[in-house]
Amino acid sequence: MPELLIVGPQKTGTTALYTYLKLNPVFKSAQMSPLDFEEVQFFNDKHYYNGVDWYFDRFKRPTNTTAISSTTDKTTLSMDFDPDDQTIYFEKSATYFDDPKVPPRAFSLLPDARIVILLVDPADRAYSWYQHIKAHGDPVANSMSFEQVIMSSTGDTSTTTANVARASTKVISVRQRCLHPGYYSQHLTNWLNHYPSRQIIIIDGQWFKYNPVLVMNRLQLLLRVNKPLDYANQLVYNEQKGFYCQRLRRDSHNDGIHCLGKSKGRKYAPMSQKVRLYLNRHYLAHNRQLAQLLSDIGQPLPVWLDEAMTTSGLGLASSRGQ
Ligand code: A3P
Repeated sequence: MPELLIVGPQKTGTTALYTYLKLNPVFKSAQMSPLDFEEVQFFNDKHYYNGVDWYFDRFKRPTNTTAISSTTDKTTLSMDFDPDDQTIYFEKSATYFDDPKVPPRAFSLLPDARIVILLVDPADRAYSWYQHIKAHGDPVANSMSFEQVIMSSTGDTSTTTANVARASTKVISVRQRCLHPGYYSQHLTNWLNHYPSRQIIIIDGQWFKYNPVLVMNRLQLLLRVNKPLDYANQLVYNEQKGFYCQRLRRDSHNDGIHCLGKSKGRKYAPMSQKVRLYLNRHYLAHNRQLAQLLSDIGQPLPVWLDEAMTTSGLGLASSRGQ
């Protein structure tokens, strides 16, 4: 059974975390069809009605039947047995975080699982998501700037009333898809209504971007990995990519480094100051609640949240009315 669920939200570095974890053979991810890429997406509606067996089959590994078919082989197996051998099955589905159906469903099947949540500044997350759908040819994102999507309530220039209504619905839906996953306190509360806080692992996604070695080494400690990998030997910062990438043994097939693909760590213009201010205000109450919630469950605040609270003049002390 999977013991670890990386639940998202989307655009916070979930693929990097998934990729780095798999560098340590202790961590075994679900096996997926190429169509599903790396995400199982069971606990939301995509595959839920395929049933539990379908889900557990994702984690099955082929067994070596010949190895246990004779007494000699059994002896060999037991001699090879290493009590330190450990396997941690995990899956990552970045859409789990903000879907309220997921926490109760996941808890009823995997009550002992650890839940990993990556949190970046929700304004940055929204912008990254906009860039993501734009790159995938979303018509709204391709015809309207981020500012227009976020700051307009209708955002439409069509002439007929029917077109206005139709286009507006689409713009509102894109705006909502940019903003909704960033209401972190609301979504985290849904998880805490089911899982005990000690099973929830919050990772500061901004910190993870620039210090993945520290984050990965700490995560292995938290998960009591018997054979931790020193990620300082695995990851190296790449100037061109602007992110950490996997260090490889250099040979004729590679140049000694493997970075995530073009869709991760995209290059785009920085967010305008006007939209950032708007989003900071938009998320202020949610961020305040998040800070309170994290402090209530004894989790440190992500650096970006601490800064947001300080610059807004609404540190935790004032949010508690002290
Ligand atoms: P951008 O492409 O907007 O920069 P996810 O994998 O959850 O979709 O998140 C994608 C984001 O992961 C990227 O968003 C990028 O900021 C972040 N990221 C963190 N570590 C990364 C890495 N090593 N390589 C590429 N992107 C990384």
